Amino acid sequence: AESYPFHGVNQSGILTPAPGEKQAFSCFAAFDSTAASKADLTALMKTLTERARFLTAGGVPENLGISQPPSDSDVLGPDVPADGLTVTLGVGSSLFDDRYGLASLKPAKLKPMTIFPNDSPESAWMHGDLSLQLCANHPDTVHHAIRDIAKHTRGGMQLRWKIEGYNSPPRPSGTPRNLLGFKDGTANPTGSLASDLVWSASGEPAWAKGGTYQVIRLIRMLVEFWDRVSINEQETMFGRRRDSGAPLDGNAETDTPDYAADPNGDVIPLDAHIRLANPRTSATANQRMIRRSYNYDLGLDENGDIQAGHIFVAYNQDLERQFETVQKRLIGEPLIDYVQPFGGGYFYALPGVADASDWYASRLL
Ligand code: HEM
Repeated sequence: AESYPFHGVNQSGILTPAPGEKQAFSCFAAFDSTAASKADLTALMKTLTERARFLTAGGVPENLGISQPPSDSDVLGPDVPADGLTVTLGVGSSLFDDRYGLASLKPAKLKPMTIFPNDSPESAWMHGDLSLQLCANHPDTVHHAIRDIAKHTRGGMQLRWKIEGYNSPPRPSGTPRNLLGFKDGTANPTGSLASDLVWSASGEPAWAKGGTYQVIRLIRMLVEFWDRVSINEQETMFGRRRDSGAPLDGNAETDTPDYAADPNGDVIPLDAHIRLANPRTSATANQRMIRRSYNYDLGLDENGDIQAGHIFVAYNQDLERQFETVQKRLIGEPLIDYVQPFGGGYFYALPGVADASDWYASRLL
């Protein structure tokens, strides 16, 4: 059975290869902590650790006998497969209010998600004391995991919002496409560059080492409206070809755009998504981030329009230097007419659980 390591310096699900054919399904959920004390919060973290350790390794659930409800929902049958599951736990800034005496230990840049000028915030879809990212190879595995975790933690935390995501296989090749039809994830940093951009840097409390800031933005796509836009206009909005994913000045998906050769934006407009998101100058190199986004589909809205879009997920070591700087540059981009951010949150993805005797947030609590 396919599994990813649960124990380590960092959590899995962050630099784990981007979703494609593997980990094509996900659930993002935020919880409110109902733990009454720091001791209860510690107990919650230990339970979360135990469930995540079991679910990511797979195994046979405890048999409590037929006079009891089953210890497991049995959605996956009597032998729970790992099925490529990763569980990635984050904490929101509200966990560091004075409830648990943790204020002085808050990660330096952690705060409630900023509302940007084109956002349509819906409070039922925002923020949370804790976040869970679950990614796996099949949707029933993801469903089983969220249900198992919610069931075992009922005394300590309560679901605030949750959304399921999915990804496409290469169509026909290269990076998966998002619901606007464009390959998405092409220019992600890799290797040691990715590590350097993601894991906690100086200026953070000692316990936070090995963690990273997690940004979740729920972004609705106005797909009916988008489908009426010419291909030429779609391509200039992103700065890439729709069929191949190549930058407009290149031929292949992996070609690097050359903005110095196109200073006036004649080929790739100055306000194209990729040009604003990453101007590729030495001064902006440390603003890059890792994106690990999924599609979502919530059915129809009250007008009968398709309610689908993008679960934008990014990991970065400095929310202000990276995500917020880039997001601010994107404020006026032409794409904003076709998308509508409505939820999500900022979280701090915890350091990894070191070994079988360690537990989530052990150095925080
Ligand atoms: C690149 C789509 C929102 C940051 C891209 C690409 C696409 C895309 C198709 C080009 C392929 C690639 O390199 O991945 C979208 C859609 C969005 C969205 C549909 C909203 C619905 C955002 C947001 C941010 C962001 C909110 C960050 C604030 C980036 C970055 C790149 C990128 C950093 C890589 C640019 C490069 O290095 O060349 N996006 N994006 N995107 N996007 Fe987005």
